[in-house]
This record gives sequence, C-alpha cells and structure tokens, in this order.
Amino acid sequence: MMTDATPVRFPADFSWGVATASYQIEGAVEADGRRPSIWDTFSHTPGTISDGSSGDVACDHYHRYREDVDLIAGLGVGTYRFSLAWPRLQPDGRGPINQAGLDFYLRLLDALQEKGIRPWVTLYHWDLPQALEDAGGWPARDTAHRFADYAVAVYERLHDRVADWTTLNEPWCSAYLGYGIGQHAPGVRDPRAALHAAHHLLLGHGLAVRGMRAATPDTTNRFGITLNLWPVSPATDTPTDVDAARRVDGISNRAFLDPLLRGSYPDDVLADVAGITDTAHIQPGDTDTIAAPVDVLGINYYSPTYVRARESAGPAGSTPWIGCDDVEPVPQGFPTTDMGWEIEPDGLRRLLVRLRDDYPSIPLYVTENGMALADVVDDEGRVHDPERIGYIDGHLRACRQAMDEGVDLRGYFVWTLYDNFEWAFGYSKRFGVIHLDTATQVRIPKSSAAWYARVARSGELP
Ligand code: NOJ
Repeated sequence: MMTDATPVRFPADFSWGVATASYQIEGAVEADGRRPSIWDTFSHTPGTISDGSSGDVACDHYHRYREDVDLIAGLGVGTYRFSLAWPRLQPDGRGPINQAGLDFYLRLLDALQEKGIRPWVTLYHWDLPQALEDAGGWPARDTAHRFADYAVAVYERLHDRVADWTTLNEPWCSAYLGYGIGQHAPGVRDPRAALHAAHHLLLGHGLAVRGMRAATPDTTNRFGITLNLWPVSPATDTPTDVDAARRVDGISNRAFLDPLLRGSYPDDVLADVAGITDTAHIQPGDTDTIAAPVDVLGINYYSPTYVRARESAGPAGSTPWIGCDDVEPVPQGFPTTDMGWEIEPDGLRRLLVRLRDDYPSIPLYVTENGMALADVVDDEGRVHDPERIGYIDGHLRACRQAMDEGVDLRGYFVWTLYDNFEWAFGYSKRFGVIHLDTATQVRIPKSSAAWYARVARSGELP
C-alpha cells in the first residue's frame, strides 16, 4: 500500500507536460484572416456563457506567445500540448491553407524549439469553422471529409516540425454537449444529431489518420486521439443501477473506444439508442476507417461517475448521456472542485487498469488532468493553491500505481498552463497553474507551478 510518505518515482523517459487549447487562450479572433468558429458565434449569443464573456481576447496568447513559452519552460516540462485553430488555417473550413494563420504556429514552434520543448498538436479542440456549421456541422457526413482534408493539408506543412498528432480532443463533448444538450457550441439540443455527430467525428478521425500516414509513409510521427473517459460505477448493486452503469459506460466510453480500437460499435449501445436513430448514417466501411491504427491513446480524466436509475425519466436532455434520461449521477461525498466535480484519484487508476484489460497494447497518455479552484492573489501578490497541488499529487500517485499494475502509461499533462476561457463558464473557473488577470493580462505562477516544476524536473513526487 502506497502512503503519502513513500517516495514515488517515474521512469526517466516519462513525458511531463502541460496542455491548452486554441479558443481558450489565443484571442485575436479577427487577426490575419481568421474567420468565426462555432465558439465565436455561441459565446456571442446572450445567455450561453455564465459570465457573459467570450474568447475574443482570452489570454491574448496570439500576441504574447513568447512570454507564454517562457512560462512553459519555467514549468520544467518537456512537452507542450496545444491545439491549432482550424478557422485560422482554413477560415471557412475548406480550400487553401491561410499562410498568415500558419505563420503564427510556425512562430510558436520556433519559440518552443528554442526552449527545447516538444510540441504535441491537437488538430481539433472544438473550434469548428462557422461556415461548416452553416453547411450542417458534425451531424453532416461531409464535415468528416472537410476535417480530413484540413488535417492532411496542415500535416503536410508541419510534419517535419511536429511528431505527435492528436486528431480530436474529447469528441464526446463536441457531439453530446454541442449537439445533444446544447451546453456547448453550436448549442443544439437533438439527441439524434448528437449521435450522428459522434459517428462523423470518429469517421473524420479515421480519414485524417489514414490521410496523414499516407502523406509520409515511413514516418516515426505518432497519431492518436484524446478521449474523455470515466470509470462508471453503479451506486448500488441493484440490477437497475448496474444496467444504468452499463448504459452510461456504453454511450460514453465504449461507443468511442470500441470503434476506434476494436473496429465495431458495441451491439448493446446500438440497441440502447435504437429508439433515437437507426444506423443508416453508419455506411459500409466506416468502422474500418475509424479503426485506422493509432500509436497512442490520450485520456482526459477529472472525476469519477457513479450512477443510479431514476424511478421515472427526467426531461429529454437532462443528462449528457444520450438515451439515458432515466439515469442520474450520485454524489459519493468526495471533496469537490470549484466545478462541483468530485475528486477521486483512484478513479483514474481504475480507468487506466480497465483500458489495459479491455483495450490492450495501446500506449496511454493522460493528456489532461487538473482542477478548478477559486484562486485569489494575496497581499504579497502570490497565489497559493495547496488544494491543486494535492489534486495533482494524488492523481500522479494513481498513475504510478496503475503503472505498477502493468499499465503502459507514457506521460502526464496538467490542464492547464494558465487560467483561461473555460467554455460555458467563461473566466469564472480557474484551472491554471498560472494565475491570469484578464483585465491586465498579468500572469502569476501559483504555488502549484513551482511544485509541478520540481516534479517534472526530478521525475519524483516530493
Ligand atoms: C476538457 C477540455 O478538453 C478542456 O478544454 C477543458 O477546459 C477542461 N476539460 C476542463 O473542463
């Protein structure tokens, strides 16, 4: 049994990183030919973002990337995971690459290279060009082809500068929060559209991986996808709660993992959603495309999920678990973050072990993990966030334990570099290890930043 006093070491080649996403940090939404994404449209629609904000300025990273790269270097990490803004690179989602937009990423890559930081690129972290949404968005099959074209065009320009390529970040969120319950852009509430979107996101991933591999057949570059996954447990062992957990695990985890890593959708999931959609949108050959071999799987983990069956179904769209309106989450009494998310590091260990068992032989990376806290700057201009240190420490211990149990975990990336635009919550939720004052753009590393730098540099938990 590992205790807090046990020294915990990670392998010398373990990747330590920090992660961000384009719309959450870049700002400069009209610079150099960028055109609107669905998040520009959504955040400018009254009532969508809790503090009424948008990503118009965000962390102004577009102009301050040099200072930000210095901050990343100060964290002692070897890897920086960030996303490319599709609406900068193909402002209307199709056609030639916008050189001015690409130049920004070339400047950023130069700055990272100067500091010896390895870039890890995500091609799509939710900022779909609005023009493609106007043409049907992810529920339309053509968007998968548009995404693959974009991915290959960008890859052709950057494949010699970037070795790690993630196609999509959290397609569950794009599909279910974006098109199912409308909490995210484009704000659609239609479970059928959400399921079609999920399939087309996965199809776009497979087409993109195939296309990028074909562009450089002998490459050592690695391709993967990042999924938000949950260890789902029934709140009790009654058959209805056990079945509720099976369904939530099915629609949230297996509906993505199985087609990607086993080449087919799970029969029980297709049966569960048969009342919402038929399978006409899944065309012959699609599942082969989706299962294009990947080199790594990224996992974003924040919180566990315990569920029970309700006596009667809630209103349609009352949960993001498509087809599970008769299921509700059951808080377990764990401490919570400022998002209200329960903290259970062992959930990450269980998740990793389950992936090893059910989807063996794919190297894993925790591409996001971190916590929101209502951080304040004290009188001396410092920000102390011992709870965040405790959160990251606990989850790293869970990672180490999973590795001891045989999980092939290769790296861990903190979410996130600095406080930024937290989607529907705007700037009201702070996830950074660096504090951001949105009025002045002053960045102040929190105590967690110094702690994490020590961990990343030493490979050991103090
Ligand atoms: C997952 C998303 O990838 C990221 O964009 C978001 O800010 C964090 N979770 C926290 O909610």
